[in-house]
Amino acid sequence: MAEKSSELFDKIVNLSKRRGIVFQSAEIYGGFRSTYDYGPIGVLMLRNVKDAWWRSMVQLRTDVVGLDASILSPPAVWEASGHLATFTDPLVDCKNCGARHREDKLDDPTQCPTCGVKGELTEPRDFNLMFKTHAGPVVDEGAVAYLRPETAQGMFINFSNVQVTSRKKPPFGIAQIGKSFRNEITPGNFVFRTREFEQMEMEFFVAPEEAEKWHEYWCQERLNWYIDHGMSKDNVCLREHTQDELSHYSSATYDVDFKFPWGWDELEGIAYRGDYDLTQHSEHSGKPLEYFDQVNNKRYRPHVIEPAAGATRTMMAFLMDAYHEEEVNGETRTVLRLHHRIAPYKIAVLPLSKKPDLQGKSQEVFTKLASQWMCDYDETQAIGKRYRRQDEIGTPYCVTVDFDTLEDNAVTVRERDTMEQVRLPIEELATWFAERLS
Ligand code: GAP
Repeated sequence: MAEKSSELFDKIVNLSKRRGIVFQSAEIYGGFRSTYDYGPIGVLMLRNVKDAWWRSMVQLRTDVVGLDASILSPPAVWEASGHLATFTDPLVDCKNCGARHREDKLDDPTQCPTCGVKGELTEPRDFNLMFKTHAGPVVDEGAVAYLRPETAQGMFINFSNVQVTSRKKPPFGIAQIGKSFRNEITPGNFVFRTREFEQMEMEFFVAPEEAEKWHEYWCQERLNWYIDHGMSKDNVCLREHTQDELSHYSSATYDVDFKFPWGWDELEGIAYRGDYDLTQHSEHSGKPLEYFDQVNNKRYRPHVIEPAAGATRTMMAFLMDAYHEEEVNGETRTVLRLHHRIAPYKIAVLPLSKKPDLQGKSQEVFTKLASQWMCDYDETQAIGKRYRRQDEIGTPYCVTVDFDTLEDNAVTVRERDTMEQVRLPIEELATWFAERLS
């Protein structure tokens, strides 16, 4: 990260709006607090974050399978999981200005941070963070449904379905990416804490005596994932939860923390959930959620290690980590030094001019490359400006088609970080990029 101040935060918010990464939702109506829309560049980057996670967690492994469970679920799930009783924040209202605050986040528990008046805060009351709605036409208690506040429960309630159909044996995992919803009292810091967000979670089921070993394994594995995808080692670390931080289901948790402009904060939690969830759902549903180990003729309830990350939060961390400004020929160059797997576009095809024969050749090159990689095509303004535009959104390579191309069937390839250029025959491009973008 080039900078670590609030200036960096503002630059990321501005870049996001200016370049179509993230927009305030319902902006033409004045915006809707804590909701964001991902624009043409942002949607690519967010998808890449999720694909990179899925690739590492599912595609490259033989011991993890995927799931896509529903967002709407009945109260029974959340009663069993403990979310109805305990997924709460202590809330106080200011009787002077009406502002609402989380009591546990106040510096002075007697003073309203909005209006500064002392002694006007109400007693704290527990505020459940789940979004409640009604499924179907009748609005009564029997029709109550909740938007999931985490994707995890989908994996627990489908444990037997998945285990039997995939024929996996512990140690094995179920992974899921999807939207979750929390009625956060204090959303903020751009997309860091929002009411609607995306999670990437995996429940790894193990024999109880192997839980500690697997917890250590997943902590290391997950930390390495961020570093392997380009994050600076100085900006990510593992941090163990103190006893009073632990969630109701966890006996040990480590966070992967990132150095945000406001300080170290959570990107992902890796919790040891024991057999809490499978026990709760077995007892509440009456269905045994167990595994029968035929080799040892033993029936047991697996324990769970859960690496749970936020996709939207991770994307923001990648943006902050990759943001650099540098002086080039007396001008400031803004460059996102993103790992190629995270970068929105891998290649930009740039015809030197809008002359029809150059356009035709450039389209040909684009079509060839776009069948394998997400490519941009840009023919407006001077070539230098176009390079800068691609640097700013982290495109690793630009391919320039010029007048010589029509003669020698070769193009100039420019690398984002070094700005070095090489001349390559068009027929060699696919192989050249395959070596660098795999
Ligand atoms: N199943 C466990 C679980 O949900 P969590 O720590 O509450 O654990 C996991 O959430 C991750 O989801 C967090 O580390 C964070 O990256 C992301 N996350 C949680 N709440 C969020 C919010 N309001 N906005 C954006 N991301 C959030």
